Amino acid sequence: MSRDLPRQAPKLRTQILKVVSSDLGEFKENVGREKMREWEVSQMPSAKPLREAADYLKARDIPVAFPTETVYGLGADATRSAAVKGIYSAKGRPSDNPLIIHVADLDMLRHFLQPATEQNGTPNGIHDQIPEIYKPLIERFWPGPLTILMPNPTPSKLAPEVTAGQKTFGVRMPASPLARSLIKLVGAPLAAPSANASTKPSPTTAAHVLEDLDGRIELILDGGPCQVGVESTVVDGICDPPVVLRPGGVSIEELRECPGWESVEKAYKDHSEAGKAAPRAPGMKYKHYSPKARVVLYEATYPRLHEGIDQQTLELKNSGNVVGVIRTRCWQIGGGLFCRNFKEHERLVESSEPKNQVDIDLEVGDADLYKTRDGPTVGKVLDISIGKDTRSIAQGLFAALRELDRRGADVIFVEGTPDGEDIGAAVMNRLRKAASQIKM
Ligand code: TXA
Ligand code: MG
Repeated sequence: MSRDLPRQAPKLRTQILKVVSSDLGEFKENVGREKMREWEVSQMPSAKPLREAADYLKARDIPVAFPTETVYGLGADATRSAAVKGIYSAKGRPSDNPLIIHVADLDMLRHFLQPATEQNGTPNGIHDQIPEIYKPLIERFWPGPLTILMPNPTPSKLAPEVTAGQKTFGVRMPASPLARSLIKLVGAPLAAPSANASTKPSPTTAAHVLEDLDGRIELILDGGPCQVGVESTVVDGICDPPVVLRPGGVSIEELRECPGWESVEKAYKDHSEAGKAAPRAPGMKYKHYSPKARVVLYEATYPRLHEGIDQQTLELKNSGNVVGVIRTRCWQIGGGLFCRNFKEHERLVESSEPKNQVDIDLEVGDADLYKTRDGPTVGKVLDISIGKDTRSIAQGLFAALRELDRRGADVIFVEGTPDGEDIGAAVMNRLRKAASQIKM
């Protein structure tokens, strides 16, 4: 069931504010002091736009979009109900799902582990309520793309809308200094889901946020493209054995290397497990991470993956469809279809320098004529390679889906990647949700 955005919402003027990401602050480093305990925002002019954004977040109930290392978030003061409700109205989705909170430092986390009724002692003076099970994870993966579930004290300092009735809250300390400085200046954690319109691929640039939320929020902080490109891994270590609730920027293998997490289990469902070779009926689309175009996903195990798209799938002979191809590890250019005009592109791609990891400047190849085994066909193929390495695949995935949409693709064929390799499970989890058909 698709939910339309409320029509009566007044149209706001949306502004993108560029923030230079250097010299925004640092963790205080006194001798004997715990790492990550206190983030200090710099007095440099580069932090000025963040001060303005923080003042806005404290005064208003409209969220602000900001970059994290995973995806852009749509942030609001997690202690104020009206502000948190503003996230849901901007995204156009009902408030049925708990939101994660983002903290600037460990002092802020500890403060929110204390019930609202208790006096705020100095962090040294309060009993450390961070569960032991999480300490190796915090040590290794924070600040970074890992969200952990913590017991929510009663009464809680968090707005009830954040936890949506759960007894726990999800929290992470983002790796982005920009994000940590913004949070610190607000003086409270920011609740933030991804800053996309409900059902769309998550945004990894400020331009993506604008595409989806223009007129619905007033401020987008632009800190450049996100480095990880998929959301954080969500884990619950309070249950036994600990579980992964959502695969993300930290792989299950990395978690298993930490004491207490050797036998962490997967507690999320993936559509590949719905039954072998059970391509879902076209049209039965999971409304998640989806571009407008129909997505057909080829699992990494697809028998002819090295050659690319199978000819039956390509029922486009009479239609003049625009076909998007997203390649990862094995496919030839254009998904193995014979495409004229690609030769020049191929030469360019081959000769180019290795991509800067943070630069999502996608090169889109373009061909007008291609042929199937049965002969020539008219149509248009748009080809994007997002790299062979799992990290670069994750980084470019959402941007590639959006770019092909923007260029009018009717269908997008995507080359899958193995779940077991690094953060491949996160990539495939998102792709399986976006796909209306999966080829195994
Ligand atoms: O990378 C990310 O995590 C991004 C960036 C902006 O930080 N944020 C994000 O937030 O994806 P959100 O709220 O869209 O996703 C949080 C996930 C959801 O799958 C939610 O169900 C789960 O975490 N979650 C949050 N709190 C929970 C809780 N108390 N119990 C169970 N699951 C929870
Ligand atoms: Mg999201």
